[in-house]
Amino acid sequence: MRKPIIFLLLVLGSSCVVSLLSAGFDPKPKAFPGASKGITFEVHNYEQKLDHFSYGVQQLTFMQKYLVNIDHWNRTGGPIFFYAGNEGSIELFALNTGFMFEIAPEFGAMVLFAEHRYYGSSIPFGKNGYVHKQYYQYQSSMQALADYVELLAHVRQTYEGAEKSPVIVFGGSYGGMLAAWMRIKYPHVVQGAIAASAPVAQFTGLTPCEKFGQVVTHTFALQGQECVQTIRKSWDAINKMAATAEGRAWLSDAWRLCKPLNSTDDAKNLKSYLSDVWTNLAMADYPYMANFLAPLPAYPVMAVCQPMKFLKDEPKEILLEIFEGLSVYFNYSTTATCLSYESSMPSSLDDNGWFLQSCTEMVMPMCYDGKNDFFEPQAWNLTEFSETCVKKWDVRPEPYKMEQMYGGRNLKYASNIVFSNGLLDPWSSGGVLEDVNESVVSVIIPEGAHHLDLRSSERADPKSVIQARDVHKANILKWISEYSNSV
Ligand SMILES: *[C@@H]1O[C@H](CO)[C@@H](O)[C@H](O)[C@H]1NC(C)=O
Ligand SMILES: *[C@@H]1O[C@H](CO)[C@@H](O)[C@H](O)[C@H]1NC(C)=O
Ligand SMILES: *[C@@H]1O[C@H](CO)[C@@H](O)[C@H](O)[C@H]1NC(C)=O
Ligand SMILES: *[C@@H]1O[C@H](CO)[C@@H](O)[C@H](O)[C@H]1NC(C)=O
Ligand SMILES: *[C@@H]1O[C@H](CO)[C@@H](O)[C@H](O)[C@H]1NC(C)=O
Repeated sequence: MRKPIIFLLLVLGSSCVVSLLSAGFDPKPKAFPGASKGITFEVHNYEQKLDHFSYGVQQLTFMQKYLVNIDHWNRTGGPIFFYAGNEGSIELFALNTGFMFEIAPEFGAMVLFAEHRYYGSSIPFGKNGYVHKQYYQYQSSMQALADYVELLAHVRQTYEGAEKSPVIVFGGSYGGMLAAWMRIKYPHVVQGAIAASAPVAQFTGLTPCEKFGQVVTHTFALQGQECVQTIRKSWDAINKMAATAEGRAWLSDAWRLCKPLNSTDDAKNLKSYLSDVWTNLAMADYPYMANFLAPLPAYPVMAVCQPMKFLKDEPKEILLEIFEGLSVYFNYSTTATCLSYESSMPSSLDDNGWFLQSCTEMVMPMCYDGKNDFFEPQAWNLTEFSETCVKKWDVRPEPYKMEQMYGGRNLKYASNIVFSNGLLDPWSSGGVLEDVNESVVSVIIPEGAHHLDLRSSERADPKSVIQARDVHKANILKWISEYSNSV
């Protein structure tokens, strides 16, 4: 069974990622020079409650990191733009959410980013955090949202003039889910939510499990069915090669694998790496050069499909084409000496945290049939997944928990949320793609990949993302003025 797909979007140089991660915990606020234009912030830490939902004998705490920019803040009640941190170091999200910094001046807004517990440097029990259930049992979206509520109260007290400021919550991906859910659960704390690429319905019974893979395939199909066919045929070609020692040696050599294939199990890992790569490419199909898990050209899916269009039949020929396409992903820098298929993520990133969350509440069923998608057929098997979770984490998934907690697709009693989705992005499969009512609205970005709208403006931005950002601004303005009229 494949590990769950992580949706973290990193659009930074890997050297930068390493230095951010190794910077670690720093109790003293300091200025952080943003990598993107206009993105600067002070780093702070807040002593946060470990458990918001019990009254134990002893209240344990951990240090939660948050970032603040008050350069443009109107100190007499200007709004707070709050980013609900997701599964990674908070700096990464700040550096990739230029939109909030871009619009802060016109709103006189304070910009605030909070790190999600158990990620980045906000890990309770430090390096023991993920070692035993007694430590990681406090990881959940409910606890994270409660952290954010308490942190906001602290910020209101700390910054004079913020006592009555309206708060707009932003988030992308899992952060977008948290943004929407925060408005749903705590409407008295946040006045509205911009939920970008938030798959709030990517759960059991809410979205068919095959939808996700179909969107990945669709994004590739825009570059021609030949590319789709080539990928679809590659699985059998790999299986044929992997079946014999000679075939494994050929493939290891032709694909310049760092670790040669010794078994069909190794080939399984290679195939799972490939599936992740195609998925990542659809998520990161941006109209300009960016650095997503690997440096990529503009319209990377187009670039990857370029050499994979020749409809060969011979397994070796198919696999040589695939390798050329794959090279765009792992060797765009031209500095790769071999292909490492152990992880499609940079090694500096620990995706353990998301693995744990998918084993408790974030159970997102995925399945592939190989006909309506180009993946190797694989059923969704909750029993098998559950056993993996017990073995790894000593926990069992609760497939209906998120729907019970937050409502799934039943959002008709919610208000003041914008759900935006790019249709190139596979996570749109579990997104809200239609207006729910006049104050819970959907914005579609046909040419958009994963939360493109939250990124800084770029010259190559399609018109649809510029329009989506205008919808965000109009709603934020409306929410703020409704709030001002009511206090
Ligand atoms: C600051 O915010 C207050 C409250 O919304 C508003 O009345 C005032 O005009 C703003 N000041 C500036 C300079 O925008
Ligand atoms: C296969 O065996 C070789 C030689 O023992 C080793 O170097 C290589 O890492 C192995 N491959 C994998 C995927 O473990
Ligand atoms: C990466 O690209 C460079 C330049 O095209 C090439 O020389 C090198 O062999 C490639 N590396 C791999 C592992 O294919
Ligand atoms: C699901 O996985 C379990 C445990 O691995 C296995 O016993 C069962 O047969 C599988 N179910 C299906 C429908 O494949
Ligand atoms: C729709 O949004 C409004 C807020 O404008 C909210 O009060 C209402 O409960 C929502 N649902 C319906 C069915 O109107």
